[in-house]
Amino acid sequence: MPERYVVSIDQGTTSTRCIVFDRRGQLVSVVQREHQQYFPKPGWVEHDATEIWRNVERIVPRAVAQAGAGPEQIAAIGIANQRETTVLWDRRTGVPYGNAIVWQDTRTDSLVDELARVPGVEAVSQRSGLPLATYFSGPRIRWMLDNTPGLRERAERGDVLFGTMETWLVWNLTGGPEGGIHITDVTNASRTMLMDITTLEWDPYLLSFFGIPASMLPEIRSSAQVYGTSRTVLPGVEIAAALGDQQAALFGQTCFAPGEAKCTYGTGGFLLLNTGRELVRSTHGLLSTVGYRIDGEAPVYALEGPIAIAGSLVQWFRDRLELISTAPEIETLARSVDNNGGCYIVPAFSGLFAPHWRSEARGVIVGLTSYITKGHLARAVLEATGWQTREVVDAMNADSGLALRTLKVDGGMTSDNLLMQFIADVLDVPVVRPMVAETVSLGAAYAAGLAVGYWPDLEGLRQNWHRAGQWLPAMDPQRRAQEYDNWQRAVERAFGWIKQ
Ligand code: G3P
Repeated sequence: MPERYVVSIDQGTTSTRCIVFDRRGQLVSVVQREHQQYFPKPGWVEHDATEIWRNVERIVPRAVAQAGAGPEQIAAIGIANQRETTVLWDRRTGVPYGNAIVWQDTRTDSLVDELARVPGVEAVSQRSGLPLATYFSGPRIRWMLDNTPGLRERAERGDVLFGTMETWLVWNLTGGPEGGIHITDVTNASRTMLMDITTLEWDPYLLSFFGIPASMLPEIRSSAQVYGTSRTVLPGVEIAAALGDQQAALFGQTCFAPGEAKCTYGTGGFLLLNTGRELVRSTHGLLSTVGYRIDGEAPVYALEGPIAIAGSLVQWFRDRLELISTAPEIETLARSVDNNGGCYIVPAFSGLFAPHWRSEARGVIVGLTSYITKGHLARAVLEATGWQTREVVDAMNADSGLALRTLKVDGGMTSDNLLMQFIADVLDVPVVRPMVAETVSLGAAYAAGLAVGYWPDLEGLRQNWHRAGQWLPAMDPQRRAQEYDNWQRAVERAFGWIKQ
């Protein structure tokens, strides 16, 4: 019998990656392609959904060929995706209505502000598990319907489809305008602000609050379930999983038990804590979200603390300030000095997410003196990720009533040893990194493999997790407390920058 594999598509914020995994959860081949980022106005971030679909069409067959496999050797396809990014398209032609609006985009700022004054707004957070913020898809759909001439009428006639990226890809994989299936998974649906977080169904109250016709919405399915068969890329192969990328990383890190947490450091930073079958409502600025749902089983919930800007601050330092030429150089530059020299950078480029939820906040650099060099700035860039993680962990400990004992990490920034040590120091808990760092892709592969019986159960998947790195806390407690206080004072300076 020839070897069989699972194909994972990770449609992320900056690129799309296809990875072929074998039965031991090892990476066999990987092909990646970046897509264009559009910044048409300050605070606006867009992607071309058609370009992203074309990238998928190119990279998937290449990854399978590189693995030396034929399509008949592929047991299933799993998808992980950037969440909340919103695409609307024409049901008959498959052509999107303008660019997709990306999760970092803050154009709905004043709309969200208006909505916050509408009677009955209190029920929105209660029903969706999310704070009213520009981050989620609901306000974006409303903005597109309000700002694209004729779109609302077409949507009401049933001609317009909405999706986050997994919906768009599944629809195109299964035939597009010729019979494509229009579905989302429950983790992605939980980020639209339109789903009831307890029933896991579209909520008529939320739809009417945001003014969104139900006919636009995909059907909500489990995260690990056979949705259909691909008819375009790898024809005949079953599409058997979809998860938001951060939930996929939770799954790929095998955080299957309540109390297990991971943080993925990509463009942003996303800390998720498995809270089991129980929905935990946050009173400290975190999100209640769905961790995953295996078909036929009860959903597993999570508490999440999203940080909007982590790795993208390093990108900004590289591409906009041009103080380094490659991202890894930031570690060398930061090591050229012993400390931050009293300098802190609060990267509120898209407002501040958890635990603050202040969309009007903008970035600040504080503590500048003529002593400060680019080395100190490099440190402050890395430390911003550490302190933001600390704020989220404090909120999580307060919400769950349990102190986090260890943090599993993954994502591009985890190759930065200085940063990983700093995170262990400011959290005062060990930080561990797994052997397979591609946990987003792995999680989507695991979910798809489970759905088709390629892997038998969760316990089997746990056996594949091996530790590759560990950082133990070593910071003097007094210094930790003093610097955290400095950070919190810096954050206050970022608030209220945009007058509302
Ligand atoms: O919520 C946004 C998140 O899903 C984006 O993740 O890794 O594509 O930046 P990433």
